[in-house]
Amino acid sequence: MGRKITVIGAGHVGASVAQQVLAQQLGDVVLVDIAEELAQGKALDLNQAGSVLGFTGQAVGTAKFEYTIDSDIIIVTAGSPRKPGMSRDDLLKINFDIVHTVVGHAVSASPEAIILVVTNPLDAMTYAAWRTSGFPAQRVIGMAGVLDSARFRLFLAEALGVSVHMVEAMVLGGHGDDMVPCLPLTRVGGAAVTDQLPAEDLARIIERTRTGGGEIVKLLKTGSAYYAPAASVVRMAAAILRDEKAVLPCAAWLQGEYGQRDLFLGVPVVLGREGVIRIMEFGLSAEDQSALQRSAEAVRALNRQVDALLQGK
Ligand code: NAI
Ligand code: 2OP
Repeated sequence: MGRKITVIGAGHVGASVAQQVLAQQLGDVVLVDIAEELAQGKALDLNQAGSVLGFTGQAVGTAKFEYTIDSDIIIVTAGSPRKPGMSRDDLLKINFDIVHTVVGHAVSASPEAIILVVTNPLDAMTYAAWRTSGFPAQRVIGMAGVLDSARFRLFLAEALGVSVHMVEAMVLGGHGDDMVPCLPLTRVGGAAVTDQLPAEDLARIIERTRTGGGEIVKLLKTGSAYYAPAASVVRMAAAILRDEKAVLPCAAWLQGEYGQRDLFLGVPVVLGREGVIRIMEFGLSAEDQSALQRSAEAVRALNRQVDALLQGK
């Protein structure tokens, strides 16, 4: 049977996700947007691209969740993106209402699906999606670490004059300015990055990674990044659909791992057909552990706002 991937939000990220899902032949796409004609227009355009490129999957654009019945994966991109000067956290109230509504409809139609959340503020919206869904936590996962690590790897590769494929790195923690690029896990052609770049260059690259989303917001003037975010969540969807058991940094529900409990936070996860198969734990440096703690506190403050908003529902 063909796979069905529902993409909620047919905006910049959602449309790029749909395009990449089809190009990678992962399955058929249902593109859902409150702006129904926008979703229909993008689906039609994607299917016409398929005529040229030879995708076999089809896209449907709709505002109706009945088309999403029995989806394998639900990718939530609906929401408002950041505007210049706005933090991801400013988006919380606006995007909570959207995520709560769309996840409620989507899980009724696809009770066995895996939910991948992209909407910001990422870690808190993943928590909101999980609370709304009633799903086991292993089937609700947030996308941020793959993107933040991709940015970090690119900046390191440019500084070192090597292929980005030679750079391994993991950015952990929340998807905010206090995310944690872990230097002990960062290797270039197998060598420790700390032996390859001076500390000031590394500090500059870490700072650029932390503010990597904002750099693009400033350049675009309207809206935020979408090609790399879409590639990142599609990478996670591919790992799940192909049961790859890939190790990727994702926002996952923690129950004591890394000394953290009862929140979604970016950690290395083994991803396969059931979603989060397990969280990979390894020893962090004291500096990274306290940075992770700070990042977790920032996420917890947002989760308390989500709890209050859920109580009002
Ligand atoms: P966009 O504005 O281009 O698209 C959002 C779409 O959501 C719009 O088409 C809108 O009509 C739709 N929408 C709003 N309410 C809806 C509802 N109730 N039902 C269905 N559709 C609804 O925004 P873009 O650039 O696609 O970003 C989407 C979200 O993803 C934002 O919250 C952004 O901050 C976040 N994001 C997160 C990243 C991450 O690393 N986790 C990276 C990039 C973006
Ligand atoms: C990003 O990091 C806006 O969170 C989004 O590009």
